[in-house]
Amino acid sequence: MVDAVVRARGLTKTYSDEVQKLEVLKGIDLEIRKGETVALMGPSGAGKSTLLHILGLMDSGTSGELEVLGRDARRLEEAEKDAVRNREVGFLFQFHYLLPGLSLLENTALPLRIMGMSASDASKEAAGILESVGLGSRLRHLPSRVSGGEQQRAALARAMTAHPRLLICDEPTGNLDLERGEEVRALIWKMARQEGTAVIVATHNPDLARSADRTLRILDGRIAEK
Ligand SMILES: Nc1ncnc2c1ncn2[C@@H]1O[C@H](COP(=O)(O)OP(=O)(O)OP(=O)(O)O)[C@@H](O)[C@H]1O
Ligand SMILES: [Mg+2]
Repeated sequence: MVDAVVRARGLTKTYSDEVQKLEVLKGIDLEIRKGETVALMGPSGAGKSTLLHILGLMDSGTSGELEVLGRDARRLEEAEKDAVRNREVGFLFQFHYLLPGLSLLENTALPLRIMGMSASDASKEAAGILESVGLGSRLRHLPSRVSGGEQQRAALARAMTAHPRLLICDEPTGNLDLERGEEVRALIWKMARQEGTAVIVATHNPDLARSADRTLRILDGRIAEK
């Protein structure tokens, strides 16, 4: 295996209920290599979020092959999926999903605590990462007491705190104004490049896409590389 963090072959996803079947992904072939930054574009409803959920082991494909971080996704038990997701994959969404009752420091330390790190070590690590995203003076603030851009930077810090090998972002700047979005975008690339993290970012923003190593487009359920 040549450093593939994600590899999909003929991956499909069909949503079905009693009345209809919706074939969203019709045979996705893709490979994301270690440290690579990839933008995922395509019209609304094309299946970007669906694909990211599957790559992040939050959902399963209907058929086809998928390898995530060296594991065959079809063979993983739920508990193994949870472990891979918690330890090796970071997530950043359009909305921050920070826990409202915890400070930025506690939110950022949480993934490390879940992995079994002591409270004092986790706090130290989390403080360092928050400083590196410019939030060193906001450690004790609750999410509701900081701005939208700061919330999103804290969410990025939390996503990166366990040093994931893969960072999955779904419209990470979609809820921010131009300048704030630009800050978050620059930080995603900076942290990912420092850490050698592979990143896949679903976005409608062509500037964000241009700043990735390459762009994939979902069109009619398949990937077209631009
Ligand atoms: N749980 C579900 N059950 C049934 N259909 C779904 C489900 N989730 C998504 N869909 C449908 O699958 C299609 C793809 O949705 P998805 O959210 O992946 O698109 P997207 O490319 O992320 O769009 P956007 O750019 O608007 O975020 C849509 O038609 C959506 O309605
Ligand atoms: Mg989406």
